[in-house]
Amino acid sequence: MKTLGIETSCDETAAGIVEDGDRIISNVVASQIGIHARYGGVVPEVASRQHLLTIIPVINQAMTGVPWQDISGIAVTFGPGLAGSLLIGVNVAKAIALAKKLPLIAVNHLEAHIYANWLNSSPAGNKDRVKFPCLCLIVSGGHSDLVMMKGHGQFEKLGRTLDDAAGEAFDKAARILGLGYPGGPAIEQAGRSGIPCLPLPRAWLKGSYDFSFSGLKTALWHLVQKGEVSVADAAASFQLAVVDVLVTKTIEAARQLKVEQILLSGGVAANEMLSQQFLAKSPVRVLIPPPHLCTDNAAMVAGCGYYHLQAGRVCGYDLDVVPSLSLE
Ligand code: KG4
Ligand code: ZN
Repeated sequence: MKTLGIETSCDETAAGIVEDGDRIISNVVASQIGIHARYGGVVPEVASRQHLLTIIPVINQAMTGVPWQDISGIAVTFGPGLAGSLLIGVNVAKAIALAKKLPLIAVNHLEAHIYANWLNSSPAGNKDRVKFPCLCLIVSGGHSDLVMMKGHGQFEKLGRTLDDAAGEAFDKAARILGLGYPGGPAIEQAGRSGIPCLPLPRAWLKGSYDFSFSGLKTALWHLVQKGEVSVADAAASFQLAVVDVLVTKTIEAARQLKVEQILLSGGVAANEMLSQQFLAKSPVRVLIPPPHLCTDNAAMVAGCGYYHLQAGRVCGYDLDVVPSLSLE
């Protein structure tokens, strides 16, 4: 059973086809990074106009060689994200569902990120890889959520960021250090030639599964204001501070809750130091999608949509966007 996924929640226009929830048939992502980089961040109005220009060519490319009769459902991200951007994807998905008489499936972007852990390109599929209950860490530009997953579609939120999301912290730190946008890859690159020697704080928030990264960003700003810090050392130190908190708190939660596995997802999961530290320190198996499936894409939306379709969770043409949607 093949599903078509459509993703336009932020600054990637994406469409992808996945078979049986895990096998990637196509995965097309048109990034707007080059357009927004000059402003140092995503400009919402520019993003939605760009989605409008790109969405049909991106869907056509994803559908290359796949007849419409092979598609069993149209899955689309309806939140969280930028309202104007989400609207483009949702309306295109409705139009296709109506024209092709296919079920419309509303997908939560955060849930889709988690489902990137099922994806692969091998004909054998990937169904038995994930073991429930598992602990999911979703770290993206807008979220840092720790969630217990007991089965398909069964989530229990344990913790979240109280201020900046992990990706947002990387983006703001990169701005402080005069590095480019998006900040995560820029900090990772700059930090490779540095030593994590600067004294930066970690907000442990003991006794809770919540995170906080805004104090760390402010501490970095003060160090830079004082001068005489190398950008490479500052980037390496900042990256280590974020990774340290994410790894330590998630592993502690996995021990307490006796889960079978930890599933990483979201753009920050593309960070090499984060994945290395998780793999080195976790007592349970850690699944991490390859970097191009950690950042926004539509294969994860299509894969997640398959499980909704299997459970009969389809929606009507009155589907609306929910920019502040959360998991649960
Ligand atoms: O999941 P994503 O593509 O979009 C959202 O749903 O937000 O995540 C984007 C975020 C950005 O903040 C970006 O700086 C961060 O993920 N990111 C990284 C890396 N690649 C992307 N952060 C750290 N290291 C990376 N390699
Ligand atoms: Zn995302």
